[in-house]
Formats: sequence, C-alpha cells, structure tokens
Amino acid sequence: MDETTASDTASDTAADTAADTAADTAVARLTELALGHVLVSLIGLGHRLGLLDALAAGPATSDELAARAGAAPRYVREWLGGLVGGGIVEWDSGTGRYRFAPGYARLLSGATAANTAPGAEMLTRLTAMVPEVADRFRDGAGIPAATYAQRAGASLGGSRRYLYEEQLVPGFLGAVPGLHERLRAGAEVLDVGCGPGQVARLIADAFPASRVTGLDVVPEAIERARAGLGDRPNLDFRVGDAARLDEDGRYDVVLALDVVHDLGRPREALRGVHRALAPGGVLVMVDIAFSADLDEVAGNPGAAQAFGVSVLHCLPISLHGGGEGLGAMWGREAAREMLTEVGFTDVRVHPSPRPQNAVYVATR
Ligand SMILES: C[S@@+](CC[C@H](N)C(=O)[O-])C[C@H]1O[C@@H](n2cnc3c(N)ncnc32)[C@H](O)[C@@H]1O
Repeated sequence: MDETTASDTASDTAADTAADTAADTAVARLTELALGHVLVSLIGLGHRLGLLDALAAGPATSDELAARAGAAPRYVREWLGGLVGGGIVEWDSGTGRYRFAPGYARLLSGATAANTAPGAEMLTRLTAMVPEVADRFRDGAGIPAATYAQRAGASLGGSRRYLYEEQLVPGFLGAVPGLHERLRAGAEVLDVGCGPGQVARLIADAFPASRVTGLDVVPEAIERARAGLGDRPNLDFRVGDAARLDEDGRYDVVLALDVVHDLGRPREALRGVHRALAPGGVLVMVDIAFSADLDEVAGNPGAAQAFGVSVLHCLPISLHGGGEGLGAMWGREAAREMLTEVGFTDVRVHPSPRPQNAVYVATR
C-alpha cells in the first residue's frame, strides 16, 4: 500500500466513524422523540379526564384512581403502565399503589400556571387536525377558525387558562407602563379574538370601572363566552371579524392576545384597531417574541414548538379565505414593521411572562 492510499483509507475510516456516530445520535434522538410524543398524548389524556389531578390527591391503586376520576379501570391501568414506563409515575409493588415520580406532580396537576398538562392536551387536540392539514399541504388552502373550534374541540386559548388566571393582570398587563392605572380609572376596552372570553372576564373583574367588549369571529366561541358572562354589567361579547372593525375612536385599550398572526387580513384588522382607538389609546398585542430569521432560531426548542403549532393551527387559519398566511413565526421584526405600517408611531416591545411571547404596545 503506498502512502497516499494509506492516508485515504485512514480518512475514509474517520469519515465512516463520524457518520456512524451521527446515525447513532439521530436514532437515539428519534427514539426519544417518539417516546415523548406517546407520553405527551398520555399526559393530555390524563389532563382531559382528570386522572392527573386525581393522582396528585395521593397514592392510589389503578382501581382507586379510576374511581376518583370516574374512568374505566381497565383503561386507567394501561394508561398508568405507560407513565410508569416513561418514569413519570412510580409503582409500589408492595401496596399496588401508584404515585407521581418526584418533581412531576406540580408540573402535571393543579390549577396553576406551572401545570404543563393543559398544553399537552392542546397538542393532542391539534394532532386530530393532521389529516385535514395534510390535505391543505396539497392544495395550499386554509382552514377556518370555526373548524378548529368544532373539530379540535376548544380554542388554543384553553391551554393558557391557568397562566392567564395568574399572570394576565400582574404579568401581561403589568408589563405595560401606566395600563393598570388607566384601567382602574375606567377605560373602554376591546378584546379582539377573545375566544371563550377568559381574558375579558378577568379584566372586567379586576377593573370594575372599565367596560370590556370581547369580539371573536367564531360564533361558538362567543356562545361559550356569553355562557360565562355571569353578573358582570361591565362586560359584553359579540361575534365579529377583526378585519371589519368600524368603531372609530371608541376604545382606550385594544387587546389582541395571541391572535394577529392567525388573521387572514392582519393589516386591515390592525388599521381598523388603529382607527378604533381614541387618540392616546393603546393596542396591547401579545405575539411572537422570536425572530423569523432561521439563522437566529436554529436549534431553539421554543421556536421549533412555535413553528409546529403554526403548521397545525395558526398557518392554516391565517391562510383561510385567501389570507396572507402570517403563521405563528412571522417574527418580531415583521410585527414591529406592520404596526408602524398601519399608522402607529410609538411602538414598544416588553418581555412577557411566556418567554416565547412579547408584549407589543402601540400607542395611537
Ligand atoms: C389562539 S386564539 C386566542 C384566544 C385568546 N385571545 C387567548 O389569548 O386565549 C385566537 C382567537 O382568534 C379568533 N379569530 C381568528 N380569526 C379572527 C378574526 N378574523 N376576527 C376575530 N377573531 C378571530 C379565533 O376564533 C380564536 O378564538
């Protein structure tokens, strides 16, 4: 063997070893992801059925847990087996009882923002949309927001219920200088894309001198919002398209929480919001904090998740009816630009309690 052949062979071997290592890493990662997908499905199911909260109440046999949650014991045993295999639940063979593995109870149960199970349930609901989304990949069309409300069973908003209960007033609204004072003194507030109305209700309760109107294009969302209206004279809901706002100068504060990137005609909607604000009024828009620049977000798990949710939800909605198709990852640069383009001269961006979001504050 001459010298050239020997060095070629050595570099071929090194390249083969590197390729084998990369393949092993990829196999391990994909195996882990497949397991993660299954466990997220089981967690989503457990949240939906109340099994996780029932488990947090204390160690239980599968029959006891089934009785606590009102579920069929045979299914509950299988479900527990998956979570034991995944290391999320522990099984005591002496007593036959199950309990959360250390650290998990707080993250998977309870009415607090630390509970990640509502998010898991939201992902499982979105997975139900995969066949329809696949069809839209072929024809490029969109999916109406109402279809999500009917098929996925609930708006994405439900997954943020505990977060809003804890953080809407102190965190999201507190991020906006002077907003608490304004709401306390009494402001006319519009919540655009209000979904089932939780945000509007929380604001109406926290700031009784303010008057809050929730607007959503999906009639079922407004029906649910109205069902939760209770005895709140300062709150109202109505069906309407954000792109057709025609109430010039009426509002002091407009909220658009996690909605602008879903809109087919976001510019028209934001122009309408600009007109609907009284001079000095503010738009509080909670939307993506990430850049849309792939060089910047490569390897960022939060951005990966936002893209994924966008594929399954936000992008199809924003493409519906020939929509612009912003999608969840339109990026903070485009968000600022669009706010300026529609006429807001003072746009500020504040951090939000959810790191993937920013609070954009645009003053008329
Ligand atoms: C992701 S959800 C956010 C709901 C709520 N703001 C929250 O943060 O929980 C987006 C909402 O925007 C609504 N929506 C979508 N397109 C709309 C439009 N053109 N006009 C008004 N609402 C719209 C959807 O029906 C849905 O309730």
